[in-house]
Amino acid sequence: MRAPDFEELVGDPEVYFAEYANKRPMLRSGSPIGDPQEILSLAHLDKLIHSEAIRPPYIRVFSGGVAVPPARYTRTIKIQGIDVPDVVIPDRVYALFRDGATVTWHSLNQHVPHLRELARELSIRFGTRSDITAFLTPPRKQGFEPHHDPVDVFALQLEGTKRWRVWKPIRERRGDIGHYRLEDLGEPDLDVTLRPGDVLHIPFNTPHMAVSEDQISLHLSVMVQPLMWRDLMLRTVERLTQDDGFDPVHAEGESHVAGRLERLASRLLEVDVSAELAGRAAQGARADGSRDGRGFRSQNTEHLPT
Ligand SMILES: [Fe+2]
Repeated sequence: MRAPDFEELVGDPEVYFAEYANKRPMLRSGSPIGDPQEILSLAHLDKLIHSEAIRPPYIRVFSGGVAVPPARYTRTIKIQGIDVPDVVIPDRVYALFRDGATVTWHSLNQHVPHLRELARELSIRFGTRSDITAFLTPPRKQGFEPHHDPVDVFALQLEGTKRWRVWKPIRERRGDIGHYRLEDLGEPDLDVTLRPGDVLHIPFNTPHMAVSEDQISLHLSVMVQPLMWRDLMLRTVERLTQDDGFDPVHAEGESHVAGRLERLASRLLEVDVSAELAGRAAQGARADGSRDGRGFRSQNTEHLPT
């Protein structure tokens, strides 16, 4: 098993960042990500669903775009005498899927080591959190109504084919979720069928919809949280106000407030912008679903005779 690396996903990073990132959808066809079966396959998902360790919300089932209550496909088991609720009953999920439901697997990067490596690489490159979700859709089904997501998405088609319609990013991009009626959207900007190995990049707040074609469709959505200037600046302000000059506020009057603001303003003007931006990568590496370490292995090495 392997995951694509950053270049396989985005192509030439310079071209991606100059022409597509935050601007418009990007289609990469002709299997730029290598053998899709090596990334995730139906066989792999069959094994995962029987693991008895993947529970909602890591796995969810949607029928007609609406979440199926987990009680319809889970039960409680005992492990070491302790009740573990919400354990998936595979046959129930298979039955819902046969009836047309879409099965989604969330934050797979928290379970599947090679997908964690991919999320980690993206977290470092973008300086923000990355998560990976798999969408398994029965033939000729639309999992969800047209919508836009709060995150940048790289859709990797792994099995079957799926028709995607993508419209222009909306004007006021707040990083929220939005829903649309198809008849209100007009002609799509992009109308394309993804085949196994193809990648479609959809910037955040870009309306889209997808419908599977004649076979079961499996695709991964590799998601990256967009970094907003307000988040970056809040981080900087937080770091600059850690000393006791910014401690308890007593009812001191306007001149004291003005003094604090002046102090903060002069510190902001001295900020080393490149160091500040470089800190993003470290922050991304610490994001949930991305962290890595050698705690056990390093202790083992420390105690080995030299
Ligand atoms: Fe979406």
